[in-house]
Amino acid sequence: MTRESSVMRCLQLCVSLLVAARLQGKVTAPERQEAAVELPFTLSCMVSKGRGDSLRRVRWLDVKNQTLLTYLPDQKDSVSGQQHVELASSPKDSSAITIRRVSFRDEGCYTCIFDLYPSGSQEGRTCLTVTSRVTAEGNKTAVSGKAVALSCSYGLPEKVHQVLWRHTADRGESSPVASYAKRSDPMIEPPYQERVWLTHSLSTSQLSIRPVSVQDEGCYTCEYNTYPEGLKSATVCLAVFVLPKPQVSYKNTSPGVIEANCTAVSRPPAEIVWNVERDNRTMGPPVTSQLQQGDGTTLVISTLTVQSGLLKDVSVKCLVHHKGLESPIAVSMNTKIGTALAILISVTTVASLLVIGLCFCLWKCFLRKDEGVVQEQ
Ligand SMILES: *[C@@H]1O[C@H](CO)[C@@H](O)[C@H](O)[C@H]1NC(C)=O
Ligand SMILES: *[C@@H]1O[C@H](CO)[C@@H](O)[C@H](O)[C@H]1NC(C)=O
Ligand SMILES: *[C@@H]1O[C@H](CO)[C@@H](O)[C@H](O)[C@H]1NC(C)=O
Ligand SMILES: *[C@@H]1O[C@H](CO)[C@@H](O)[C@H](O)[C@H]1NC(C)=O
Repeated sequence: MTRESSVMRCLQLCVSLLVAARLQGKVTAPERQEAAVELPFTLSCMVSKGRGDSLRRVRWLDVKNQTLLTYLPDQKDSVSGQQHVELASSPKDSSAITIRRVSFRDEGCYTCIFDLYPSGSQEGRTCLTVTSRVTAEGNKTAVSGKAVALSCSYGLPEKVHQVLWRHTADRGESSPVASYAKRSDPMIEPPYQERVWLTHSLSTSQLSIRPVSVQDEGCYTCEYNTYPEGLKSATVCLAVFVLPKPQVSYKNTSPGVIEANCTAVSRPPAEIVWNVERDNRTMGPPVTSQLQQGDGTTLVISTLTVQSGLLKDVSVKCLVHHKGLESPIAVSMNTKIGTALAILISVTTVASLLVIGLCFCLWKCFLRKDEGVVQEQ
């Protein structure tokens, strides 16, 4: 009984294997293919007909074994099927269909069935894996104290379990910043709480930092933990600027010689140039020095020595150039404004003196009158 049944089973298996071998020999299709999400993708099958066979009809079944598309090879207007696919051109004895825009739901195995006469139907199978890549926005710069948002996206949120952001500082150590997992709230690591936020999303993930500090500089990696493909990531780097607030100071170092300093604290270091209106009374080129500050900024001092007569005649400006500024900041040594101010002050002083004098006179006149009255009584 058992022997008989096992022989029977073996025979069945052999027959089905033979049949399968014959079928596989008849229709060929790529076994497994990868299709990028949101792009068109073309599936194809090829049939080798037996002698005397003619192809009557082609059918395509989707991942749920439902009819995707059917057509009669000789009749162009015989195509019928679902909206999101169309018949693609293909060589003789083969069939191709294009999925207009691949989505997560298109993942699975497709069946192509060639109805041959008189030998019958032959079918082939081709399986599709839908893929996506993590893309990050380009590198960013932010101004210290302001806000910045970094973002990454992945086209197949259905496959993502968790998104994790890591920060890698210049020295190379990497530490987690924030993460978001399906059906939970974003987790912000303690050092970043209250100034870092993460969106509730497994597709486009946006990490916001406000206010940004110099310590936030470095590269950020967004890691998408996907199933079954595994970890997918992209990196975006952040540069943090501290904008310069330049100042000019000057003093007489010896009679007729003025030493002027233009200073700017910034990150990265600013470039300082002097603008002296077409005059040659500067005593040599400016001397620039840099001093690293403990907080990641650099103090740049540019010292220019000029003949004091120069300041009366032309405007001397210090121009501070910085990557974070649209145009350089100009600081004038205020010579011309200085004279205007001096004139203004003298005019005001003279006017005040006049007013005070007038008041004094009036007061004196009235007092005398009063005194006169007292004396009469
Ligand atoms: C579709 O049919 C094939 C065999 O024809 C079977 O192996 C597969 O499980 C079916 N798929 C679905 C979703 O029913
Ligand atoms: C972003 O910055 C990093 C480090 O500064 C650099 O290696 C990378 O090439 C930059 N990427 C782009 C797209 O500019
Ligand atoms: C300019 O800077 C130098 C170097 O820090 C300093 O020795 C000098 O006293 C400064 N001069 C003025 C006018 O501030
Ligand atoms: C500076 O300019 C004056 C006239 O403006 C000229 O006489 C003098 O030779 C110049 N000096 C130098 C060093 O170029």
